[in-house]
Amino acid sequence: MPEPWWKSAVVYQIYPRSFCDTSGNGVGDLEGIRRHLDHLAWLGVDAIWISPFFRSPMKDYGYDVSDYCDVDPLFGTLSDFDRLLEEAHRRGLRVLIDWVPNHTSDQHPWFVEARASRESPRRDWYVWRDGSPERPPNNWRAAFSESPAWTYDEKTGQWYLHLFLSEQPDLNWANPDVVAAMRDTLRFWLDRGVDGFRMDVIHCIGKDPALADVAADVAAIPYCALNDDPRTHEHLRGLRALLDEYPGDRVMVGEVFLLTTEQVASYYGNRDELHLSFNFVPLYLPWEADRWRGCIDEIESVLGRRDAWPTWVLSNHDQPRHRTRYGGDEGRARAAALLLLTLRGTPFVYAGEELGLEDAVVSEASRVDPGGRDGCRAPLPWDAQEGHGWAGESPWLPWPPEPATRNVAAQRRDPSSILHLYRCLLAARRGSPALRSGTIETIDAGAAVFAFRRRCGDDERLVLVNFSEEAARVEFEGQWRIEVASAGVGTDEVFGGLLPPGQALLLVSGKAD
Ligand code: GLC
Repeated sequence: MPEPWWKSAVVYQIYPRSFCDTSGNGVGDLEGIRRHLDHLAWLGVDAIWISPFFRSPMKDYGYDVSDYCDVDPLFGTLSDFDRLLEEAHRRGLRVLIDWVPNHTSDQHPWFVEARASRESPRRDWYVWRDGSPERPPNNWRAAFSESPAWTYDEKTGQWYLHLFLSEQPDLNWANPDVVAAMRDTLRFWLDRGVDGFRMDVIHCIGKDPALADVAADVAAIPYCALNDDPRTHEHLRGLRALLDEYPGDRVMVGEVFLLTTEQVASYYGNRDELHLSFNFVPLYLPWEADRWRGCIDEIESVLGRRDAWPTWVLSNHDQPRHRTRYGGDEGRARAAALLLLTLRGTPFVYAGEELGLEDAVVSEASRVDPGGRDGCRAPLPWDAQEGHGWAGESPWLPWPPEPATRNVAAQRRDPSSILHLYRCLLAARRGSPALRSGTIETIDAGAAVFAFRRRCGDDERLVLVNFSEEAARVEFEGQWRIEVASAGVGTDEVFGGLLPPGQALLLVSGKAD
């Protein structure tokens, strides 16, 4: 059996509002993605994941879906999507879309109907509980707020549950009709030809009907704490079976927002639940060698026990960009890129990190997200012109820093840019069985340097990351050439044993050719 494509793929996340606007409304669109497919193919990623573009009142910028089977007019039409999919496939790019199963929008016809009366046939599609208007049914709080995870519906005199905004009521997955309807939404897109799904807060769909009070720290962010309900695992097995009915290794990547690797690992099941799961543990690590060494060793051993394939993420649309998190230095963002793209597993690149973007500075007046995540969602600058390749006058959020020089066109012209570094790393990865699918073994190279070896048959690579601001001496047996240096780009020098401050190197064994 050949390995499924997603094991050796690098996935590029597109937040569609922020990628490229062709209609002039200030919001990126599907046509904007289509027009830049050649650029993504040039960069060398294997797949794109597009954050939600479905019909939505946009209270959570698309994570509040009011129709799972249509495109919001802000982003285009279903035929724009079909065209994008077809043209992506023609270039060998797979397409994942974002599926939001834990909650709908309060404007979804299902909820409108459910809310209409206690007798509504859809009442039980959501989670309703009795209680006095003064006292919510339990102590859970909604994400991004100090308020309860419950909203009292005056008209029908009951509370409904929402782990996120009150405009995002939780679906009741205990109701088989909900399960069937949500499975149909997957089929709708699978039949159109998508290659898989990123599944939003998937670990939350099964809930203990007791919905009991929890400890105060857990109640503060229940979506980070609801864990391991057997009902969720059962649903996941059902979803896995559905995807596996389709040819072509369709994939489900779960957003399991739990903060230990052990917890995340359980959602791979016995190779019968998620194919891949995000693991945000590394995303919260400081840029320190021993923390990364410990974390990677743990991930390898915990996932290894289940034969579960790791994923790696440094940035996404919910967190400050890693360049910003690590202090703003481009050199460090470059070293992090070399690490991300040489680890064992499937890496996810968040659009704009390949340009070394920092978060935008968003003034109080320009902030729009209830969760305070605007900075990392700033629009992508495509060129140096006014408008930076966007059709309208002003995009929905301010530009990230230095758009006149830090844009796609300028960096494509500059062979020493971070964009070329990403391209070079992606090419090195594609060309090396050791990097794509080989084993990983961490090696001792002193306290400041994190080093590991990747190996597959005769193919062998060494990765050295100097987390300190001092040069480090490292010695290995045999001859090694520098294939990629984070500070430069591709080189072909023999490695002399000196690792410059803050830099990372990808080394290839001299024996290889
Ligand atoms: C996920 C998404 C985030 C969204 C939340 C609710 O964490 O990544 O953007 O706000 O789920 O759907």
